[in-house]
Amino acid sequence: MSEKKPTTYWDYIHIEELTSLQSGLAESEEELSNDEVLFITVHQVFELWFKLILRELRTARDLFRKDPVAEQELSGAVRSLERVTTILRRCTDHFEVVETLTTRDYLAFRDKLFPASGFQSRQLRQIEIVMGLEEEDRIPFGGEKGFAAALKEPDGTPSVSMQKVRETQAEGASLREAIDEWLYRTPIDGVALDDADSETALDRFLMKFLGAYDAESAASRSIALSNTKGPEEVERIDEMYADERASVRAFFSPNEAKGGARRRRIRAAALFVETYRELPLLAWPREVLDSLVELEQQFVVFRQRHARMAERVIGRRAGTGGTAGVAYLDKTALKYRIFRDLWAIRTLQIRREAAPGLDKPEYYGFLRPE
Ligand code: HEM
Repeated sequence: MSEKKPTTYWDYIHIEELTSLQSGLAESEEELSNDEVLFITVHQVFELWFKLILRELRTARDLFRKDPVAEQELSGAVRSLERVTTILRRCTDHFEVVETLTTRDYLAFRDKLFPASGFQSRQLRQIEIVMGLEEEDRIPFGGEKGFAAALKEPDGTPSVSMQKVRETQAEGASLREAIDEWLYRTPIDGVALDDADSETALDRFLMKFLGAYDAESAASRSIALSNTKGPEEVERIDEMYADERASVRAFFSPNEAKGGARRRRIRAAALFVETYRELPLLAWPREVLDSLVELEQQFVVFRQRHARMAERVIGRRAGTGGTAGVAYLDKTALKYRIFRDLWAIRTLQIRREAAPGLDKPEYYGFLRPE
């Protein structure tokens, strides 16, 4: 039997291949300035992080696609999602390295990039697709051209990047859709979705909760009013609280176009999990929901940070990829939200002591009664 060659760091990490990939369009890296090699390297570092993010997100998505989702897997899913958030936080920091490029440093080689851009990062698109960004929420640019047009080869044929994005689109339900399905099946007050009285249990929970919410909202309104100066302010505060109560009611009455009864149940389940998160069986589901909000928050911060870095380096000029530049990037930070319902729940949560009692809290204990 032949002896196995001892492992070396350089073989395992592929050091020679890795450090020979920073020459961009030049024959040799020697032809490039330090600034340009930095620019290329930072993009590569990001793309490697994106690769890991994509792996973790796919794992989490596949777990939540199962029916049922095993309770004992939830802590692992939270760790995956937290890893994604940590990586994104590091990516956000990396923009500081790019900012060591002055505007003139960057302009020295920027023209050769046209029409290439991070806009063509297929991994960012795959991340968005796996997470569940809705196609209709995407910001079109340059007429009707979206990211798919930007992923064509210059001669109009589909690039490898485009094929990979298409494959990801064909992978089916996104993480958001899988989470929705999981929430949809969550038993409300101990009544499972396929029990005959599941609708009654849902209505009862919402009625009790909204009653408690109204009382909490009225108490906050009184405090706010006690600090007012003059009738105009009273009117403004009254209007604000009335609008908030109306939007909470509307949140639980989505029309058919917004998902109707199914969406109502998903929203109620997310609220239920948050409200009774001290119960053992709801503790990990609540951590899952919180880690999704944390991840999305970090994504927004990442987008905003990229926009501020870009503004510092190129100002408000058009991007090499053909968008309006920083104005486009700011729009993505504002508009690209995936887990909207989980954010919305934050507006209606109430103090722990104010939460209405449950009929069957024992259902969510570690040991279910026979
Ligand atoms: C000097 C440095 C940079 C500048 C001035 C800059 C500027 C821009 C601009 C203006 C866009 C909008 C698309 C366009 O019209 O080109 C864009 C998109 C993008 N950039 Fe950068 N960028 C820089 C560095 C980076 C780095 C280091 C990354 C890391 C991967 C990155 C990733 C992206 C991504 C993923 C998009 C697409 C965003 C989306 O469509 O949501 N950029 N960049």
